[in-house]
Amino acid sequence: MKTNSLRPPAEMLHEAELAALTANDRDSRPPGWKLSPKAVRTFLLGSNGDALPHEWGGKKTKTVVMQKFYGDDALVERCIVTLLGNRGLLLVGEPGTAKSMISELLAAAVCGTSLLTIQGTAGTTDDHIRYSWNYALLLAEGPSLRALVPSPLYSAMRAGALVRFEEITRCQPEIQDTLVSLLSDKAMQVPELSGADGVLFAGKGFNVIATANLRDRGVHEMSSALKRRFNFETVAPLADHAMELRLVQEQTAALLQDSAVRVECPTDVLALLVTTFNDLRHGRTAEGTVVDRPSTVLSTAEAVAVSHSAALDAAYFGNARLGAGHVARQLLGTVLKDNPDDLKKLKHYFDVVVKARGKGNRTWQEFYEARKWLRA
Ligand SMILES: Nc1ncnc2c1ncn2[C@@H]1O[C@H](COP(=O)(O)OP(=O)(O)O)[C@@H](O)[C@H]1O
Ligand SMILES: [Mg+2]
Repeated sequence: MKTNSLRPPAEMLHEAELAALTANDRDSRPPGWKLSPKAVRTFLLGSNGDALPHEWGGKKTKTVVMQKFYGDDALVERCIVTLLGNRGLLLVGEPGTAKSMISELLAAAVCGTSLLTIQGTAGTTDDHIRYSWNYALLLAEGPSLRALVPSPLYSAMRAGALVRFEEITRCQPEIQDTLVSLLSDKAMQVPELSGADGVLFAGKGFNVIATANLRDRGVHEMSSALKRRFNFETVAPLADHAMELRLVQEQTAALLQDSAVRVECPTDVLALLVTTFNDLRHGRTAEGTVVDRPSTVLSTAEAVAVSHSAALDAAYFGNARLGAGHVARQLLGTVLKDNPDDLKKLKHYFDVVVKARGKGNRTWQEFYEARKWLRA
């Protein structure tokens, strides 16, 4: 389905892939699940180029399931197994390691919707987690199911679906603890309602996928009662240079296609970008030179953002060919946020590492020449 929205949810974006997986799913489905665990795995990790035959819009067609998460197949399998069990899934890690992406894809594949989502903030209240009331109806008719405004969690329990709890550790610990009894009893009391309406039992297939960033208030502030109700999975940044390059290439191409822009993105320029991110992220280059690490997060997600903006720069202000100069121009906005020292570190990286690599390599030389853009 073509949509006009800036960012359709995963189940809409990958509608054809999900239809193909459903049509070819020979394995048994757990109660409440839309796909078998194996098909869910394929949705995240791809069909290895195999085109799956299925019907689409009344016609026969074939769809290849694209790889969406890179770097740790076993992690995806463990996540799926956790969702089959009694405990919730908590994805922890640095920002930009694709925790939210995994949670969205899993929800889309397992229950067909990724939209039952609670966004954790310091202002999240009990009402956001349980339910609230339509006060006009409440005053007119008294408490009834009709007047109850369900939270995403309430809706997920009722439907036997997955609820996503993003950035759970940003909520106050007392608010997080609302989940403790919900997760152990798999039931929600509604004391205002009497009889059968006064308690909601979760349908088969209900579970919670939460995410937490290590840079925010940490998971250590989570109560141990709540920790026990989750299986923790740590999502690590991509360690493999070739894999990160492939990811940046594919996602940049997809983003450019989305914005209907044609730009040539030479592999050596994207490789330079990935190398720069790796050097600055680890504070050490492949040659063994030690460099100062900027204080900002230089995740793969940031690398994709920089290559996308650099390509747009090349498309609209250049000759539709991405160059190292465009990368340098966009790098600043990512590395330099609020710490003036980071500019010095970036300049130092250019003066020491980039300059040396530029001797005998045109791309790195062009990158070095663009250091004039590195001004605050
Ligand atoms: N291992 C990975 N596989 C696929 N995409 C990744 C990976 N690591 C980072 N990304 C990128 O990160 C983006 C999303 O990050 P996000 O899910 O918002 O991160 P988080 O929630 O961990 O902060 C993805 O769209 C993708 O571009
Ligand atoms: Mg996130």
